[in-house]
Amino acid sequence: MTTIERLGVIGGGLMGSGITEVGARADLDVVTVEVDDDAAKAAAERVETSLRRAEQRGKITEQDVAATLERITFTSDLQALADRDLVVEAASEEEQTKLELFGRLGRIVQKDDAILASNTSSIPIVKLGAISGRADRVMGVHFFNPAPVMKLVELIPSLTTSPQTMERMQGFVEGTLGKEPIEATDRAGFVVNSLLVPYLLSAIRMYEAGYASATDIDSGMVLGCGHPMGPLALSDLIGLDTIRAIGISMYEEFKEPLYSPPPLLDRMVDAGLLGKKSGHGFYPYD
Ligand code: NAI
Repeated sequence: MTTIERLGVIGGGLMGSGITEVGARADLDVVTVEVDDDAAKAAAERVETSLRRAEQRGKITEQDVAATLERITFTSDLQALADRDLVVEAASEEEQTKLELFGRLGRIVQKDDAILASNTSSIPIVKLGAISGRADRVMGVHFFNPAPVMKLVELIPSLTTSPQTMERMQGFVEGTLGKEPIEATDRAGFVVNSLLVPYLLSAIRMYEAGYASATDIDSGMVLGCGHPMGPLALSDLIGLDTIRAIGISMYEEFKEPLYSPPPLLDRMVDAGLLGKKSGHGFYPYD
């Protein structure tokens, strides 16, 4: 079993750019794939901005920034993942997109013991494994936003993931990335989102019903419960399209109304109000 030195990341959005940074800062050689060259360029800018921020805070030096960027290749060519030891898929939360990617990855990735992982929040890992044709080496590895800062990683073996794959991933996440893993079963939402998403959706329903203003709902939870951020600000940070997609997957799986996205969330996503990443959600952003 080879050690994991070559990391591939699919998607360079909020999470993919963060996972790219985490990998490169752990001295891995990273290839990050986006949908086209413009998106690849935007992903590169996202990573550089985050590294510069870490430099300004005195966490890394200017030389570290340069050396970290040197270790990353941004591309729109999925074939560039052929020699990877591990690929973490962090494309948009759409089942069809991920199924198509795992079908292609199963043919593209050449190393016999390479692991294909998904950062999905709610899509069944077992389906991604089945379509890849190498289900024993497919699992979920769920990072938290912002990935360079948040310690937790949920590890999700599916019914078909081999114990060796799980063990190798655990060693990698703890030993190489310095993160703290917890294990969850392959059910939509895993541990954290199963608790968090109904809470966020309840806050959106509360706002929709006119209980209180967005700032008062958020202040209530920050000042009254000691949360670092209120639920509507956190929804904006996560991305309203992502929360909606997770809610839909969880509702499909459990048929519990508490997971069903409220109409206001649908309308905001339809309007392109996706939160911080689009410049506007419950709050405006620069
Ligand atoms: P995002 O919308 O910021 O980024 C998604 C990126 O994927 C976009 O840049 C898009 O161009 C790219 N993409 C779409 N299809 C692709 C394809 N076929 N090939 C390559 N790139 C493709 O979304 P975000 O927030 O980064 O979410 C990504 C994944 O991470 C989702 O599965 C989401 O559920 C999960 N996640 C999100 C968290 C969050 O807080 N936003 C936290 C943990 C997991």
